[in-house]
Amino acid sequence: MTKRNIQTRFVQLGNKSDPDTGAVNPPVYLSTAYQHQGLGHSTGYDYSRTKNPTRALLEEGIADLEEGDSGYACSSGMAAIQLVLSLFQAGDALICSDDIYGGTHRILQRYADYYDIQTTYDTLTDVATTENLITEKTKAILIETPTNPLMQEIDIEKFAVLAKKHDLLLIVDNTFLTPYFQQPITLGADIVIHSATKYIGGHNDVLAGLVVAKGETLCDELAAIHNDSGAVLSPFDSWLLIRGLKTLALRMDKHEENAKKIAAYLETEPLITDVLYAGKGGMLSFRLKHSDMVDPFLQNLQLITFAESLGGVESFITYPATQTHMAIPEEERIRRGVCDRLLRFSVGVEKVDDLLEDLTQVFVELNKTLSKTPQ
Ligand SMILES: Cc1ncc(COP(=O)(O)O)c(C=O)c1O
Repeated sequence: MTKRNIQTRFVQLGNKSDPDTGAVNPPVYLSTAYQHQGLGHSTGYDYSRTKNPTRALLEEGIADLEEGDSGYACSSGMAAIQLVLSLFQAGDALICSDDIYGGTHRILQRYADYYDIQTTYDTLTDVATTENLITEKTKAILIETPTNPLMQEIDIEKFAVLAKKHDLLLIVDNTFLTPYFQQPITLGADIVIHSATKYIGGHNDVLAGLVVAKGETLCDELAAIHNDSGAVLSPFDSWLLIRGLKTLALRMDKHEENAKKIAAYLETEPLITDVLYAGKGGMLSFRLKHSDMVDPFLQNLQLITFAESLGGVESFITYPATQTHMAIPEEERIRRGVCDRLLRFSVGVEKVDDLLEDLTQVFVELNKTLSKTPQ
């Protein structure tokens, strides 16, 4: 049978998975242990850390949606990143896009300091430049695209060719676009990572991470580490992600529609110097004219929430300098363009007119303050 459209696969995820009862919605299996009828008679479920029926539905679902072979549900996005980093050994090296989530930067620094797994950062804009950074120690290229928070797109296909040529793993953090807008494995990546806390959960009420991989050896190794290290997702949180995935396509379309309108509006605002938007998805960033406008801007928001996360139905504005990217040393952060005037906007699914009205009234207030400030 041909595969159904991705929107349909999102909606139907986990449905009709329980023929005994006919439950349309998948049950949450809380049991940690599973009975054996005798030696060698397992139902396929033995102990919940290794495999849990609710988590398995989610893991099989995300593997299918990302076009990979297997999925691994983890207790957070950082646990997902740590699972993938556990594939490497002392002496191995990685190349990573330089505009990434600050927490990823922080854990890579820890791996460099504690375990001698070193990372070289690169913009990943030019394949030849990146190729020059590859040494015999290099084992993988790690990409977050669009980059975070500057929203530049990295060409996954080009770097997949480079990775194959040098026998490297290509790992893509697909948190911002989700499998609805981008399926890195179909473009040549080996591993996809998600902070499922974001769009996949979608409601700012579950902390979770997902990994999807392609290739038997790689999948077996990840399954073993997932079980050995134990940072697996709970059955209830797995169920919350299944529920989140059902509406993902609807939400992503609306996030994107709203983000396009907001980006167009921000382009016209004289107190903004740059708008950074990849042209797809719901994430954008912008720079205010002066860094001393940041606090009044945030304080005057009435509808949009100043908070540190993204991908939920409600609009959030984040200040990377002191929030998501604080882990990056100041000088390096500013050199990379994550300056003190930069704000990151996770555009929600509210009626866009209300979001525009909130932004407009903030700029009215900022202009009032500016007119009172002696020049
Ligand atoms: C792109 C990206 N990857 C990974 C993470 C880590 O995920 P979590 O916060 O779920 O541990 C985040 C968190 O903000 C993120 O934005």
